[in-house]
Amino acid sequence: MMGWLSELWDGGAVVVEPATSRDAAILAQIHGASFYRGWGEAEFERMLSERNTLVHRLKKGRKIIGFSVSRMAADEAEILSIAVAPAHRGRGLSGKLLLTHLGHLAGRGVRKVFLEVEENNEPARRLYERIGFTVVGRRENYYRQSDGKTMNALLMRRDLS
Ligand SMILES: CC(C)(COP(=O)(O)OP(=O)(O)OC[C@H]1O[C@@H](n2cnc3c(N)ncnc32)[C@H](O)[C@@H]1OP(=O)(O)O)[C@@H](O)C(=O)NCCC(=O)NCCS
Repeated sequence: MMGWLSELWDGGAVVVEPATSRDAAILAQIHGASFYRGWGEAEFERMLSERNTLVHRLKKGRKIIGFSVSRMAADEAEILSIAVAPAHRGRGLSGKLLLTHLGHLAGRGVRKVFLEVEENNEPARRLYERIGFTVVGRRENYYRQSDGKTMNALLMRRDLS
């Protein structure tokens, strides 16, 4: 199918752009569908108003289907959260989201980016490895699940030039 036609068919072009305070409710909804301990709308409103916090939204057509959040301090940043709505996963969209996000961090003078990921979170680990993050540390029993089971966390890093 022609490019523009398949985009129409599929629900529109995919774009990544800075999120605004009007996105807080939908971002909280996607977060809640993606993590055991969800962040509420107020939490997103607060982050969207902070100068040291960078939030991008992933859109498909007119619909917001994902986001990335990081916090900057001097020339370092930590990715606090990234998610794609369940119905849109497995199509490589998170790579575009994360690469755009990293590009903006670089533009703000960030040189080192860190993140924590649960050791058994295969989709997330594959995403980060594909984008060039490497494991620089491991924390035993760092996360606790709803059933009380604990999981290990990996600390990953990627340098920006
Ligand atoms: C992690 C996440 C953002 C990836 O988004 P996505 O758009 O589905 O990413 P991709 O389509 O690029 O898939 C990522 C990788 O996971 C793999 N994958 C996709 N769905 C999978 C599944 N159900 N089980 C195992 N692996 C899966 C893909 O094959 C891909 O690996 P590859 O590129 O080596 O083939 C998404 O799964 C998500 O929102 N998860 C819940 C929130 C989360 O865990 N965030 C990260 C917290 S640190």
